[in-house]
Amino acid sequence: MTTNFDGRTILVTGASGGIGGATVRRLVAAGADVIASGSDEAGLEAIAAETGCRTLAFDLASEDSVRGAVEGLDLWGVVNCGGFGGEIATPMDTDIAVFDKVISVNTRGLLLVTKYASASMIRLGQGGSIVNVSSQAALVALKGHVSYAASKAGVDSITRVSALELGPHGIRVNSVNPTVVMTPMSAGYWGQPEIQDPFLQQMPLGRWATEDEIAGPIVFLLSDDASMITGAILPIDGGFTAV
Ligand SMILES: NC(=O)c1ccc[n+]([C@@H]2O[C@H](COP(=O)([O-])OP(=O)(O)OC[C@H]3O[C@@H](n4cnc5c(N)ncnc54)[C@H](OP(=O)(O)O)[C@@H]3O)[C@@H](O)[C@H]2O)c1
Repeated sequence: MTTNFDGRTILVTGASGGIGGATVRRLVAAGADVIASGSDEAGLEAIAAETGCRTLAFDLASEDSVRGAVEGLDLWGVVNCGGFGGEIATPMDTDIAVFDKVISVNTRGLLLVTKYASASMIRLGQGGSIVNVSSQAALVALKGHVSYAASKAGVDSITRVSALELGPHGIRVNSVNPTVVMTPMSAGYWGQPEIQDPFLQQMPLGRWATEDEIAGPIVFLLSDDASMITGAILPIDGGFTAV
């Protein structure tokens, strides 16, 4: 990759989690000034101690919290990686309170970060890049994923509209749509052999992704190597949604 991120400040939400943490490690190694975010400071201590990144805790479910943390922050880029898996449920038995929370964190929270971050990015006038961490669940129907899928389909729509609105300011906005990574968010469901085995049999690459295999494309989309890519919805799914 030709880009180094020297002088570029990048906010990474979900940085106390698996994919966000891997993204922070790569960005710090590439010279970025990283602000790692999660819902509380304690959860960010490990990644900060390991990488030397800055930290900023806020609650994606609260506009006051997002505004208080992000408004006016000088940023070149954002990785919207914070997320909540919700429940495994059908449209027939979904708990609508869980639906509300999934939408609140994954979709509404992401839009709030985009709102306050992009205002600063426009004010700074240096362009920039936003990567939204969506899911394969936004691209195809997966059993038990009605709330989560809806939240990530909303993310992809926010990506497209944000690419349209922010393009004139030189700000690119893209989604990545990972398959399963065995983080705590996914292990409880996808780790079951009766769920895992038939799924992987249908996937051309036939294995789950690693955290680093998601972080790599995230950093690519942030970088100047992707300078003509905006509004893209990029599956990182071992080919599952292509066949
Ligand atoms: N793992 C997968 O298989 C998979 C597949 C496709 C897409 N994704 C997406 O990838 C992203 C990261 O997933 P992951 O597996 O790395 O998750 P993870 O390890 O469970 O981490 C989730 C992250 O989101 C943060 N978060 C959750 N609720 C929040 C809130 N209300 N306010 C602020 N931060 C909040 C957590 O912060 P705290 O630690 O402070 O709670 C944590 O940093 C998510 O958007 C997820 O939907 C994951």
